[in-house]
Amino acid sequence: MSGIQLQQVTKQYREGSSIITALQEASITVNSGELAAIVGPSGSGKSTLLSIIGALIKPTSGNVMVNGQDVGALSPKQLANFRLNEIGFILQSSNLIPYLSVLDQLILINKMSGKSSKQDHQFAINLLTELGLGNKLTKMPHELSGGERQRVAISRALFNQPSVILADEPTASLDSKRAHEVVKLIAAEVKKRQKAAIMVTHDQRMLTYCDHVYHMEDGKLIPKVMQSSIIK
Ligand SMILES: Nc1ncnc2c1ncn2[C@@H]1O[C@H](COP(=O)(O)OP(=O)(O)O)[C@@H](O)[C@H]1O
Ligand SMILES: [Mg+2]
Repeated sequence: MSGIQLQQVTKQYREGSSIITALQEASITVNSGELAAIVGPSGSGKSTLLSIIGALIKPTSGNVMVNGQDVGALSPKQLANFRLNEIGFILQSSNLIPYLSVLDQLILINKMSGKSSKQDHQFAINLLTELGLGNKLTKMPHELSGGERQRVAISRALFNQPSVILADEPTASLDSKRAHEVVKLIAAEVKKRQKAAIMVTHDQRMLTYCDHVYHMEDGKLIPKVMQSSIIK
């Protein structure tokens, strides 16, 4: 089964003699082509959830399936491949490498995985052009606006053709107009390329672009009924 399925995932951190429960039996299913939003206060466990799905950290208990793979059962080598090939991360600040051009931000990751080709190069150009950056390919990050930098980050997340997109507050550093543009773009790409995507956001106005909304509180994930589905 493709997409993301989490069943009763718990994550505890040990801090000296005390234990912090960052996630408490969180369950969520996101199918290919769907964008789910998670809203909730700071410290409620949102980033922990994304880090577990992206296999950056291991849960204390529970089951994580991504694109039909049981993430908990992967070997260290399989995990490295999994992170590279199945997961695209978009973060709050775009985390672009300051001394690489827009095009190289995409191409370089691929070179590191040892398989850069002419087709990859063309795919990078096509992707950046589709995301409105066709005339910015040779620009450096400092020559771009905040919205453009996030569009590079989205292109970079899509470049390896992962099955999953994880966005952690991708609009936090953008003004309202750019925020709408960026989330619209994420939603459109998720549909078009049939990704399973989760976006953490503080911005209620972004929920209209999402297929599901969850509220996170004290590590518990609660599905929210959306206004639009009440009206329907
Ligand atoms: N590496 C860590 N070690 C100890 N505690 C952590 C660690 N990472 C996160 N936490 C704690 O887990 C809880 C959830 O954090 P986080 O997932 O970052 O929340 P959010 O993204 O919703 O702000 C918080 O209480 C945070 O302090
Ligand atoms: Mg966070």
